[in-house]
Amino acid sequence: MFVVEPARLADAAAIHELVTFWADRGDMLHRPIGEIYEAIRDFKVARLDGQVVGCGSLHIMGPDLAEVRSLAVAESMQGRGVGAAIVAACVEDARLFGLERVFALTYRPAFFEKQGFRLANVLEFPQKVWNECVRCPFFTNCKEVAVVYDLRGPDISVPRA
Ligand SMILES: CC(C)(COP(=O)(O)OP(=O)(O)OC[C@H]1O[C@@H](n2cnc3c(N)ncnc32)[C@H](O)[C@@H]1OP(=O)(O)O)[C@@H](O)C(=O)NCCC(=O)NCCS
Repeated sequence: MFVVEPARLADAAAIHELVTFWADRGDMLHRPIGEIYEAIRDFKVARLDGQVVGCGSLHIMGPDLAEVRSLAVAESMQGRGVGAAIVAACVEDARLFGLERVFALTYRPAFFEKQGFRLANVLEFPQKVWNECVRCPFFTNCKEVAVVYDLRGPDISVPRA
């Protein structure tokens, strides 16, 4: 059985390899290894017999918002709950940090919907669009779909008289 745990610096090369594998196939965006080192504290890995078989990161973007990035599962481990477990670990982290929403931009919105995310408009996340997407080569032709997980509980405020 695999375990999901915080990444270690020594996992960066394996994370880079996984992301590159899927990015070369057009399933996600490439991520330079330098960026992976810089963000290593954001990363979770799924490990099986000591080997990294999946990864994903939770990138905090502001006081109430974080993004799930670089979610990738090894081809040989697809369909065994690894992706779902990594997303759940990211959402749990977000909850512990007191965040309100976790979003992702993805070519696999149906997978995220199964994990409790809902489809969203990317303009709900202006900090992403105007800080990062504008610098992306695919900005004017982006095929990624925005999804969001709402961590805010039900509204229990008492209506005023
Ligand atoms: C998308 C990805 C992360 C899913 O990981 P996985 O470990 O194979 O998925 P899981 O086994 O955890 O699947 C959990 C559930 O989602 C469903 N699911 C998996 N991939 C799906 C997809 N592409 N579309 C719809 N549902 C999907 C599974 O059937 C399963 O459903 P169940 O709970 O009813 O059994 C993986 O296929 C992957 O790494 N793809 C390449 C990179 C990529 O697309 N990254 C994500 C976008 S940024």
